[in-house]
Amino acid sequence: QTGYITIDSGYKNTGATKSAITFLDGEEGILRYRGYPIEQLAEQSSFIEVAYLLIYGKLPTQAELDDFSHQITKHTLVHEDVRKIFDGFPSAAHPMAILSSLICSLTAFYPESVSPDLSKEEIDLNVIRLMAKISTIAAWTYKNNMGHPLNYPRNDLDYCANFLYMMFSFPTEKYEIDPRIVSALNKLLILHADHEQNCSTSTVRLVGSANASLYGSVSAGINALWGPLHGGANQEVLEMLQAIQKDGGDTSKFIAKAKDKNDSFRLMGFGHRVYKNFDPRAKIIKKAADEVLSALGINDPLLKIAQELEQAALTDEYFIERKLYPNVDFYSGIIYRAIGIPTEMFTVMFALGRLPGWIAQWKEMRENKEPIGRPRQVYTGELERDYVGIEQRS
Ligand code: SDX
Repeated sequence: QTGYITIDSGYKNTGATKSAITFLDGEEGILRYRGYPIEQLAEQSSFIEVAYLLIYGKLPTQAELDDFSHQITKHTLVHEDVRKIFDGFPSAAHPMAILSSLICSLTAFYPESVSPDLSKEEIDLNVIRLMAKISTIAAWTYKNNMGHPLNYPRNDLDYCANFLYMMFSFPTEKYEIDPRIVSALNKLLILHADHEQNCSTSTVRLVGSANASLYGSVSAGINALWGPLHGGANQEVLEMLQAIQKDGGDTSKFIAKAKDKNDSFRLMGFGHRVYKNFDPRAKIIKKAADEVLSALGINDPLLKIAQELEQAALTDEYFIERKLYPNVDFYSGIIYRAIGIPTEMFTVMFALGRLPGWIAQWKEMRENKEPIGRPRQVYTGELERDYVGIEQRS
């Protein structure tokens, strides 16, 4: 071993990089994108404006925002061969498997994107393509899984309205864009847009540090996000709430299971590596869930179960001791459900929201010319030994 290696499994106390993009204070429950508090952005900004802020480091002027939004709109169409790739997937393929494959396939449609020596303009074009095409691909994944006709994007709609149109419209009838749902989706995507060095963003930076393309690095990030301990938790929360409902709604039984060390069950949507206080995003989403459901006149029994679960956990010694609070995934599914997004698409929605963060972090890593990530280890295997012919083996 060269030198003295310290192990920090899970990187709980290891800083992997310096970044000017997002600031978290886990004790105080603070989250800021480029210095702007998440509470203000969620209430006053739009997802595309926040994407610009994260990626380019400043709030855009009207002209900059219009151009960024127009560029994205102009690139929402995907190559017709993308439709053929869908035919190769089994019908039960999870949308995240399809999304990560198709995002990586962009390196095939735009082979120049894998060059490590891209100009600023070429990187900006790859950013626009990715921001634009992920929404079409995500919506097509859903329509393909449902056996519905795919909808082409419309250039007369803004980002969130266009996504909802591609997700929910049918050629047989006029699709009415509901501004309340567009506003709820904007807020949800803003709240997911970046979160410093979380598992999937660290994955994007590590893969990108090998000079891998933006598309390939983001595809790796999508797979990390899919993990049920990370972004996949939003789907797990909904399935947990449905299981509690099916079991008669007794939240205390599930709190006991979550505390039982012999039971692998965890209260999904609770706990966080950094926040040892309320996740500020969970507070905003919880309030938005109430607003969206009452605006849409929806009385979702799962919301009541979630609120009871939260109340029970927040007064329980086990959770208080371990500073386990609801995180971003705890209430988001309630809103996705209310606006018609099916459970298996929840983590795709997380990826849609997190994309600007992944892009900003990948760009920052490249601009800072960071070295290839290559951690060391402490070896715990066999000492040196000689090869044994197969006849002598047992
Ligand atoms: C996201 O990093 C990010 O920023 C992620 C994210 C982002 O925006 O990118 O915020 C998005 O991933 C949110 C987290 C979504 N995941 C879940 O909701 C899954 C449930 N939560 C846990 O698995 C857990 O809390 C993690 C994964 C979120 C954090 O894990 P840590 O920091 O490694 O904590 P740990 O597993 O070591 O737990 C510490 C203690 C343990 O008990 P003891 O061994 O001390 O007795 O708390 C317990 C754990 O058993 N614990 C839980 C629990 N979470 C932690 N017990 C019951 N239910 C839970 N949810």
